[in-house]
Amino acid sequence: MITIKENENNVEEFNTLYDQVGWGHYDEAVSKRALDNTYYSISVYDDNSIIGFGRLIGDTICFMYIHDVMVSPNYQNRKIGTLIMTKLLDKVKELKKENPDIRVYLGASKNKEGFYEKFGFVKRIDDNLGYGMILKGD
Ligand SMILES: CC(C)(COP(=O)(O)OP(=O)(O)OC[C@H]1O[C@@H](n2cnc3c(N)ncnc32)[C@H](O)[C@@H]1OP(=O)(O)O)[C@@H](O)C(=O)NCCC(=O)NCCS
Repeated sequence: MITIKENENNVEEFNTLYDQVGWGHYDEAVSKRALDNTYYSISVYDDNSIIGFGRLIGDTICFMYIHDVMVSPNYQNRKIGTLIMTKLLDKVKELKKENPDIRVYLGASKNKEGFYEKFGFVKRIDDNLGYGMILKGD
């Protein structure tokens, strides 16, 4: 049975999914700090096995970021990602009661843009928006 938990933030599960989607996991201490500083997260399970995750970080009033949306490969294309995004965006709706103009960002992995477009995200650049930018290492 598919179930969800809010704010579970289990380091082992987080790192398991990171490995499963091919990103290679962080050290435990790094993942723990990242999760400790998460505003809101969704973990999805099939019985007791982690199969999906996504989280929101940010200042809760001006800028929020969606990160680490991951679905275990065997469960992809079964609307688990949709479930995660819906829950994260429901939480954003709550924040919008305080500031309707709150901005929600994400950085899509290459070729995943179409998934996020289904939830109303647009690619920067457009008529009003410059490029999203990222600081690269040396
Ligand atoms: C991207 C990801 C989260 C999507 O989750 P999912 O559970 O497979 O997606 P869903 O089944 O909810 O798909 C919802 C819709 O998005 C579409 N979609 C899924 N992946 C897509 C992609 N890469 N490009 C375009 N559309 C996509 C589906 O076809 C579906 O369309 P429909 O509503 O018209 O049927 C999942 O594939 C994943 O975890 N990938 C590896 C990690 C990753 O890259 N995460 C994104 C980080 S930025």
